[in-house]
Amino acid sequence: MRIIGTGSAHPKRTLTNDDLSRMMDTSDEWIRERTGIRTRQVITDENLEDLAAEAAQKALDDAGIKAVELDYIICSNVAFEYVTPTVASIVEGKIGASCPCVDLNAACSGFIYAIDFAEALLQTGRATNILVMAAEEPTRMVDWNDRSTCVLFGDGAGAMVVTQGEGLRAIKVSSKSNLGVLHYKRKLEPTPFITKEEKHIPLYMAGQEVFKTAVTNSLRDLLAVLSDAGLDKNDITYYVLHQANFRINDFIRHRFNMDTTKFPVNMDRYGNTSSASIPMLLDELNRNGKLKKGDLLAFSAFGAGFTTGACIIEWNK
Ligand code: ACO
Repeated sequence: MRIIGTGSAHPKRTLTNDDLSRMMDTSDEWIRERTGIRTRQVITDENLEDLAAEAAQKALDDAGIKAVELDYIICSNVAFEYVTPTVASIVEGKIGASCPCVDLNAACSGFIYAIDFAEALLQTGRATNILVMAAEEPTRMVDWNDRSTCVLFGDGAGAMVVTQGEGLRAIKVSSKSNLGVLHYKRKLEPTPFITKEEKHIPLYMAGQEVFKTAVTNSLRDLLAVLSDAGLDKNDITYYVLHQANFRINDFIRHRFNMDTTKFPVNMDRYGNTSSASIPMLLDELNRNGKLKKGDLLAFSAFGAGFTTGACIIEWNK
């Protein structure tokens, strides 16, 4: 694949750490020191599908192609008001595309999984232009009385248009089932036949365990894709990592013995936007003129499952 356009969108309401500390027993200092987050954008009257369509349209405009030229839309999403149809199908109608559409859910690693699927479609010649995107509203999954989770998240969407090309140098996705550390369970409609007890469980996270697994797995995946691509860690222009917690990414940076310039951050302004965090950050780098032809970008993410994914893509727009 080759990336030819990027886009992103976020809701208008900014929620600061001080706003949160007026709502619950927390503080700007605690949140900043433990996570690196200062503010996040949260959904109020917006619909996620509209943010997704905005990100998609911006990516198409950046790519200079029309929606009708898309052969596929793949959207990573964890939770959304509609269980069906998918975000991708709704976006298709909003942007005026006419192509197969599918959502996938690999939690916060979903965008890397979407890249993996898109590459397979491109390699087999089944598609020429694909919209690969992520749209997430994790603020709708948390219990707003649980200070250990609700302060961490923000909402948003990110998208990229990819076409045939040689940009993807290596990719690795993985999953190791572990329901206990991270889950969100919603109740389905009752039926006259259900006899089991069912519970709605807002996002549950064993923070420290997730932290340790995230660090270990992200390091493992990044080293694996570097090795598969025959590259040294210093060859990478930017490590575009899932924006969950500044300390996780900083740990990886320290292990790689690098300065902060190769590790761009936007979680300070957006919080953890789940699988949308990587395409949102990529779009920011693109729009701020930080990317030039030949730059090598390493993506890495982790999430519930426990899933992980990493890849290296050459920027050749
Ligand atoms: N404000 C103030 N105090 C708090 C808050 C808060 N918002 N939240 C928890 N605390 C308290 C706890 O109650 C606890 O108090 P105690 O010592 O009196 O019991 C204390 O702070 C320490 O709590 P810990 O959970 O041990 O804090 P920790 O240093 O582990 O930080 C955090 C918590 C930020 C969640 C961290 O574990 C983390 O980032 N883990 C990784 C999470 C992650 O990456 N999640 C995303 C992956 S999944 C996805 O992206 C959807």
